Amino acid sequence: MLAVQQLESGYGESIILRNVSLKVQPGQVVCLLGRNGVGKTTLMRSIMGVLKARKGMVSYNGRNLTKKSPGFRAKAGIGYVPQGREVFPQLTVYENILLGLEASSGKIREIPEDAIAKFPVLPAMYERRGGDLSGGQQQQLAFARALASRPEVLLLDEPCEGIQPSIVDDIRDVIRSIKEEGQTAILLAEQSLEFVKSVGDYFYILEKGAIAWEGGLDALSDEVIMRYLTV
Ligand SMILES: Nc1ncnc2c1ncn2[C@@H]1O[C@H](COP(=O)(O)OP(=O)(O)OP(=O)(O)O)[C@@H](O)[C@H]1O
Ligand SMILES: [Mg+2]
Repeated sequence: MLAVQQLESGYGESIILRNVSLKVQPGQVVCLLGRNGVGKTTLMRSIMGVLKARKGMVSYNGRNLTKKSPGFRAKAGIGYVPQGREVFPQLTVYENILLGLEASSGKIREIPEDAIAKFPVLPAMYERRGGDLSGGQQQQLAFARALASRPEVLLLDEPCEGIQPSIVDDIRDVIRSIKEEGQTAILLAEQSLEFVKSVGDYFYILEKGAIAWEGGLDALSDEVIMRYLTV
């Protein structure tokens, strides 16, 4: 289980996240909701270790990761699909996916076929440069790159942002299939309510860097949505 406890995090002088606690279990899709700028990406980056926590703890299966590097956390089983995808534009699709294997600390030497099979469009594009792909194709590439190291925790930061509906449907299917396999804990930050309702098991809403609400799908009422999410 991934656990975040009383996390405080920020940039320079400014504190962005305050007292944030959450849990994600294997086989579960936990959604992180909130309006623009509330701190969803800051939380993802703090879990991955790209941003160091000021206070609190990030742990996985009881192992304290708070002071560990992003590389260590990746080897410990945390995969990250960042907002904006961060595909390497000059590298080929194949090379981008190979970089995902680095996170497995040499345990996995070839791109796992079952991970790539979730994105059937990719193999035909292996020789193309990442930067030449469409936004939706890059999102699938970033997802496949994260899956290549067989992560046990998957952090997905707005995977549907700026993506055409057919690829959003593909991404939904991939998330559902990973959930059905039951091995992976997924933390999903996403603005589309329709999307999170279709895949999510549990929901946390951030407001001004703090958890303002949490609950299951049944409790995510129109009133809650109006109060915390409607722009
Ligand atoms: N590198 C940075 N340096 C300083 N402040 C930052 C930095 N990145 C983000 N912030 C600030 O931190 C706050 C939270 O930003 P964050 O990107 O985590 O929000 P978000 O919920 O992911 O928003 P969005 O829905 O637009 O992706 C914002 O006020 C933002 O301006
Ligand atoms: Mg964000």
